[in-house]
Amino acid sequence: MEVNVITIDGPSGSGKGTISQLLASRLGYHYLDSGALYRLLALAAKRHKVSLDDIEDLAVLAAHMDIAFQMNPEGGSPEVLLEGEDVTDQIRDEEVGAGASRVAAIAQVRKALLDRQRAFARAPGLVADGRDMGTVVFPDATIKIYLTASPEERAQRRHNQLIGKGESVSLADLVEKVRSRDERDMNRDISPLVAASDAITVDTSGKSIPEVLEVVLDIVRHSEISVGTA
Ligand code: DC
Repeated sequence: MEVNVITIDGPSGSGKGTISQLLASRLGYHYLDSGALYRLLALAAKRHKVSLDDIEDLAVLAAHMDIAFQMNPEGGSPEVLLEGEDVTDQIRDEEVGAGASRVAAIAQVRKALLDRQRAFARAPGLVADGRDMGTVVFPDATIKIYLTASPEERAQRRHNQLIGKGESVSLADLVEKVRSRDERDMNRDISPLVAASDAITVDTSGKSIPEVLEVVLDIVRHSEISVGTA
């Protein structure tokens, strides 16, 4: 059976995580959060005292780390396990995020994670969320979507999240951070953040989550993928 792969790439704050999960659940597809793999590697390195400069050991760890994505048997919410331990919240730490960004810039690490990412493509299909899903990991994907939003809008979304968590931060600082992260992600040598030449770009600025989901579902409906009553 043909496995349909839908790739959703884009910068952080574009809404791709939320949209990818909603799309996967709407289609009954598997979901790959590729950013979580880089975050898991950063956490595994910290636990095993592997330096983020030790490229060889990091690549070995990337290929062999014991990870799992599953639904919480009690609550039904998605959880991420490292060596059997639930690390769903820990991998979202700022420190782990900074480590993930460092390990993600190492070619040998990205290579070691390629097959692990491709193994997520199982029937009936996969929604793969990341930065290089359509360009490198699944170049033959059935549908490629590139989600984006203006730096101001992405900073505003992050601002709302942080305020929701009771943290106070300046919006101007966040806009600056978003711009410099874009600069770094789009200009790195290996797997830079770029839309695949055959990707459909969706600008989510000014759109709500249901509105973006509708745009994406429309793209799927106009493709060879059967969406049933979605
Ligand atoms: O999407 P995220 O914030 O969870 O990603 C964590 C880090 O991994 C971030 O620095 C971008 C990087 N990443 C990547 O280089 N390639 C991917 N396919 C996914 C994430």
